[in-house]
Amino acid sequence: MPEFILINKQVAPFVAHVQLNRPKELNALNLELMLEIKEALIELDNDPNVRAIVLSGNERAFAAGADIKQMAGRNAIDMLKIDQFSTWDSIRKTKKPLVAAISGFALGGGCELAMICDMIVASETAQFGQPEISIGIMPGAGGTQRLTRIVGKNKAMEMVLTGTFISAQQAKEYGLVNKIVPVEFYLSEAIKMAALIAEKSPIAVQLAKESVLRAYEMPLQEALYFERKNFYMLFATEDQKEGMAAFVEKRKANFQGK
Ligand code: HXC
Repeated sequence: MPEFILINKQVAPFVAHVQLNRPKELNALNLELMLEIKEALIELDNDPNVRAIVLSGNERAFAAGADIKQMAGRNAIDMLKIDQFSTWDSIRKTKKPLVAAISGFALGGGCELAMICDMIVASETAQFGQPEISIGIMPGAGGTQRLTRIVGKNKAMEMVLTGTFISAQQAKEYGLVNKIVPVEFYLSEAIKMAALIAEKSPIAVQLAKESVLRAYEMPLQEALYFERKNFYMLFATEDQKEGMAAFVEKRKANFQGK
């Protein structure tokens, strides 16, 4: 049984919910918690009854960053040997869509974890930031890379070099957040978004997610080629036949993930 997270495999049809659960420490991301997220996502990725996953914290905090108390005494070689980023790499490789439901603080590693997710639903109270600079370090799990790709150089520089937080509204204007809702709805709205995805063909969703991510990782020509292969591949699925037949017959498609 995990100690620092809660897992609900069926919070809505085909939608699972993973909740960070170290509330007293504002969900500070210690190594154990990150490992638990990794294991949970591997399991959910392999579960045919799950088609989309919501990742949340609680109202006060999504996560206030990596656990500073756990890191404080470590030297560079300790950090190298611990190799925490192999855990992060595994999380990044989750095939199913991840919807982050964010309320309160999403700071440092918390903001980076949110950015690994594919979409972000935020409460009006959400705050995003990369405050590592204030404790003598810098972001290490994508905060200088994913953030820059999402919000652009100057805004990323401001966040990374000053450590100041941005509001949900600013994050929306920056393109970091998909949707802002009142705090009481942030989780239900994220579940709703995940449920919309879960109605689609899970194979098409997986290949589409893979293809969108390639936009960040490959030169355009190669990424277009990659996209095309995935597009062709979907014509080998029963879901493609079902989806198009349902359109022609004016009914709702019933995708089986085959
Ligand atoms: C360990 C943390 C923590 C953290 C909060 N806590 N953030 N513990 N690591 N990142 C603990 C506090 O020590 C405190 O415990 C309890 O949570 C409540 O926090 P407070 O500070 O009392 O709350 P508040 O005054 O409301 O301030 C909230 C806050 C502040 C602004 C979020 O806690 C804060 O600045 N936290 C650190 C944010 C940060 O620098 N994050 C980046 C970390 S480095 P006690 O026991 O005292 O009550 C990082 C690198 C990632 O993320 C690299 C990749 C892995």
